[in-house]
Amino acid sequence: MTESSSNPTRANAAPLTASYPELVGKVVVVTGAARGMGAVFVEELARRGVHAVGGDIDGDGMAALADKINSGAAEGAGRVLARRTDVTDPDDHDALLAAGLEEFGRVDHWVNNAGVFPQAGFTDIPPDQVTATYQVNVNGVVYGGQTAARHLRRHGGGAIVNMASVAGVRVRVTRAAYNSSKAAVRHLTSCMAVELGPDDIRVNAIAPGFVDTEMTRWVREDPAALDRALSTVPLRRVGAPVEVFGALQFLLSDSARYITGAVLPVDGGSQHV
Ligand SMILES: NC(=O)c1ccc[n+]([C@@H]2O[C@H](COP(=O)([O-])OP(=O)(O)OC[C@H]3O[C@@H](n4cnc5c(N)ncnc54)[C@H](O)[C@@H]3O)[C@@H](O)[C@H]2O)c1
Repeated sequence: MTESSSNPTRANAAPLTASYPELVGKVVVVTGAARGMGAVFVEELARRGVHAVGGDIDGDGMAALADKINSGAAEGAGRVLARRTDVTDPDDHDALLAAGLEEFGRVDHWVNNAGVFPQAGFTDIPPDQVTATYQVNVNGVVYGGQTAARHLRRHGGGAIVNMASVAGVRVRVTRAAYNSSKAAVRHLTSCMAVELGPDDIRVNAIAPGFVDTEMTRWVREDPAALDRALSTVPLRRVGAPVEVFGALQFLLSDSARYITGAVLPVDGGSQHV
């Protein structure tokens, strides 16, 4: 029995060995990168010699993470540039791109990862929750995608990856605003893939299931909620952010060069339950 299967609340965060040499020296923008999956993405990219531009509304947290990664970096590692970024503001995306271009001279790929996960029974959802959720989870992807696409068009192509969720296809009760926002991300991914394909810009999404981050900590700490959540995971354990990174680096790599408009589930099988 593996450690993760003996304790389903403990994700299998063992390092992944796969890396893609063609990504070394490339520059990837990641939004929502101060913590959670985004933080693991920039750290794992840098470890593999890929530069990352991390944008987060928590500017101090983003800066602290970049300092930590850069100061402990091995020879040949990529560097992480931090910028305070609010994904609901289109100008912030432009500023994030400009910062990456100024620092590294290029931006090759873009990851729309920032998201919020509010809770309320359907009839109790306050109007500002709907607005805030859609602004971050949907508008943030539109604005980030626009900035990325305008640049990548000039750059000769590249990859965009949007963060969807299993909640975009399976109902998670008391999460209607979130679920529907992630359904929108799935369809946006199709729209973007079709319009941007002729410019050699590939647009894909990752649909994580139940992943071990701050966003889901309350579930792991509530035994009844945890039981319910794990009953919808055929692999019967929580996922680790690094397991989502495995899908991300594949989608950014040349191995995925004929893949666009795909939504790749990384969910232990949850989409089927
Ligand atoms: N954790 C899961 O189980 C899970 C499952 C499916 C999908 N997702 C999605 O994956 C993505 C990352 O989730 P996570 O679990 O790492 O979340 P997290 O809450 O740990 O981190 C989200 C990050 O986004 C940042 N952010 C929030 N609003 C922002 C804004 N307006 N502008 C810029 N940054 C902002 C936060 O400061 C934070 O650093 C999200 O889109 C989330 O919806 C997560």
